[in-house]
Amino acid sequence: MKRIVCVALVGVVFGLGAFADGDRDSSMAPLPKNDRCLSCHASVMPGVSTSWRQSEHAFSGVSCADCHIARPGDPSGRDHMGFKVTSVPSPAYCATCHEAEVAQNSRSKHAWAAFFGNLKPYYTEARSRGLDPLAQSTAKQLDPERMGKQAVTPLFPDSGILAATGIISRPDYSHNNVTLGCAQCHGTFVIVEDDGELSGWPNTGIGRVNPDGSTGSCSSCHTRHTFSVAEARKPYTCGQCHLGPDHPQIEVYEESKHGNIYDARGESWNWEADEWGPDDIDAPTCATCHMSGFGGVVQATHDVGERLYWELQPKVSVPQWKNADQVDDLVFDRVSDPVAAAEGRRRMKAVCGQCHSTPWVDGYFTEFDAVVNDYNIVWKYVDALLTDAYADGLADKENPIDEMPEIYHYLIWHHSGRRWRMGAAMMGPDWTNWNGAIDTIMYYLGLMKSDLDLRARIQRLERDADKR
Ligand code: HEC
Ligand code: HEC
Ligand code: HEC
Ligand code: HEC
Ligand code: HEC
Ligand code: HEC
Ligand code: HEC
Ligand code: HEC
Repeated sequence: MKRIVCVALVGVVFGLGAFADGDRDSSMAPLPKNDRCLSCHASVMPGVSTSWRQSEHAFSGVSCADCHIARPGDPSGRDHMGFKVTSVPSPAYCATCHEAEVAQNSRSKHAWAAFFGNLKPYYTEARSRGLDPLAQSTAKQLDPERMGKQAVTPLFPDSGILAATGIISRPDYSHNNVTLGCAQCHGTFVIVEDDGELSGWPNTGIGRVNPDGSTGSCSSCHTRHTFSVAEARKPYTCGQCHLGPDHPQIEVYEESKHGNIYDARGESWNWEADEWGPDDIDAPTCATCHMSGFGGVVQATHDVGERLYWELQPKVSVPQWKNADQVDDLVFDRVSDPVAAAEGRRRMKAVCGQCHSTPWVDGYFTEFDAVVNDYNIVWKYVDALLTDAYADGLADKENPIDEMPEIYHYLIWHHSGRRWRMGAAMMGPDWTNWNGAIDTIMYYLGLMKSDLDLRARIQRLERDADKR
């Protein structure tokens, strides 16, 4: 309904006659005449206007200027052909028309991912000095990216060995895996330099810190300028970041029956549906389970934590932490909320219930929770092993990640232990067993124990030798 009204409006404004909804897939909105930006931008970077013309925005009359004219107080605004324009329309710009989506996204962990990740050393330092970590002035003073690159912590697992070898402080070593690695997924700080140029941009990491002090990037999932829902519902949109040895959600999905069905039949699904349901698709994608309104039983959300019970990424799995709008400081106040977590589980089950029976769904979650519990038992054993090794002088705490027991300890919670839990959460048996449980227990824990046994034997021999 809303669509047809908007289309009719464009027709009136530009004198073009209304389009039928059915024409939309194959057609582009016509180029509006006398548009203050498109007079040039139809030919300057024509790819931009072509993408825009395929978007719902173009059909609804949302123009370049609606998103790009700088809001008052946004330091990224620049004089441009008689207008004050920004190149980085932040979520605050979208909020004018999409308030609910922006509010949900902002309270979710997605919007905080840079501060949780690569910007954590900066965030911690800013807080300890009583400075506002979102302020341009703080970023200019502390240089967020440099601080991450110099920190020796398992947050940057290469840093332990870089410190042990001395490479860490070589001026010709750039640490640019942080810039083109962490920052591309987590986001980074976009700083407006004194000459007006942007640093830390282009970047569409999920928790990007924007010049206007907002966090997050809508283009992480809705790329400019089509800003398409169909695109965001496809699994590879999420798989761009959710992959690899430490969070292989896309690989788990590919292995699952759901991913197989998507592969076999996804092309014929109704990706454009306003609110979709089991009439539109016959197996879920990432978005279906985690975000979509589905079949009228759950409301759409841009808070990706809303349907989870567990935090599966930390060392010990615990019920979901409270959100950014419920604690003073999401980075430091990690408060489990079992009541909200149980509500999240209920919502997730409601999605499953559109296609599966209650015993099928309850049965699956009982088995999954038992896997999480097994992992926690193994983790507590592993963690105690390292604590004891420090106490017994078998390993040195000084550099937290340069000796084999420390490296195995890290690989267990950060890599194989996550694979074990995430395989189980999303129906990927190879990830649950071979890449998960077996890598954790037989491989890393086995190696960690042998290494510590060897160290203990050497320690005994050295002590015996000292006595002689
Ligand atoms: C008189 C022609 C003209 C007009 C009018 C014009 N632009 Fe541009 N715009 C350009 C040119 C030329 C560039 C530079 C392209 C390049 O660097 O490759 C540009 C660049 C940009 C950039 C990128 C800036 C950057 O540093 O990345 C944005 C964003 C932009 N224009 C938005 C707008 C908006 C919004 C309007 C209307 C309010 C507008 N432009 C009006 C010609 C124009
Ligand atoms: C719905 C809001 C919206 C509309 C409408 C819109 N833009 Fe954008 N534009 C964005 C966002 C968001 C970005 C990406 C900024 C980022 O995340 O870094 C962007 C980026 C850009 C860039 C820089 C990206 C690059 O690759 O250089 C240019 C130039 C630009 N837009 C021009 C335009 C022009 C011209 C129009 C009209 C045809 C337009 N935009 C319409 C939101 C919009
Ligand atoms: C001036 C108002 C306005 C602004 C600003 C705006 N939008 Fe929209 N947006 C709309 C309208 C109108 C629609 C189409 C209505 C509908 O389909 O519900 C829409 C639709 C969308 C859709 C759904 C597209 C689809 O495929 O169905 C997405 C995604 C979206 N906008 C994202 C954004 C993002 C991201 C920004 C900021 C960069 C933004 N919008 C800024 C008005 C706006
Ligand atoms: C390929 C994209 C990608 C890269 C590169 C990446 N991460 Fe991540 N990171 C993720 C994803 C996705 C998660 C979420 C894992 C989950 O919840 O399953 C995550 C989770 C984290 C977490 C846990 C946050 C929490 O809430 O507990 C931290 C910390 C982190 N990453 C730091 C980093 C750092 C530092 C780097 C670079 C040294 C980095 N990441 C590189 C995608 C990436
Ligand atoms: C993690 C990926 C992701 C990010 C980031 C994201 N979106 Fe979305 N968005 C989606 C998905 C998936 C859907 C489709 C949900 C569904 O199927 O109901 C969607 C749908 C939408 C819609 C259409 C809503 C409707 O009722 O049809 C709008 C508008 C929108 N997003 C705006 C935004 C804005 C604004 C931002 C930035 C604050 C944003 N999105 C960031 C994934 C994302
Ligand atoms: C069939 C529904 C379903 C599909 C499809 C699905 N997930 Fe999940 N996902 C789940 C469930 C269930 C959990 C565990 C929820 C809980 O903790 O109770 C989960 C957990 C997660 C987590 C949380 C891990 C953590 O660190 O706490 C992430 C991240 C995630 N999924 C991302 C994805 C991505 C990305 C995709 C697509 C490649 C995807 N999911 C596909 C159901 C699904
Ligand atoms: C640009 C990178 C990127 C994209 C694209 C992306 N994510 Fe994420 N996602 C992350 C990172 C980084 C985290 C870790 C956030 C944290 O805990 O600090 C994360 C965390 C999550 C979580 C865990 C939230 C929690 O509360 O524990 C879920 C679930 C999730 N993402 C689902 C999705 C889905 C579904 C999509 C696609 C529709 C998606 N993500 C797209 C980077 C991304
Ligand atoms: C849109 C429909 C749909 C949704 C939503 C859905 N599934 Fe499925 N699921 C299917 C279909 C279809 C199959 C294939 C059944 C078969 O093998 O014949 C399937 C298969 C499965 C399987 C069997 C896997 C295997 O390897 O045989 C499990 C377990 C499962 N789903 C659990 C879930 C859970 C848990 C949820 C919610 C988190 C969920 N599903 C959500 C449609 C759905």
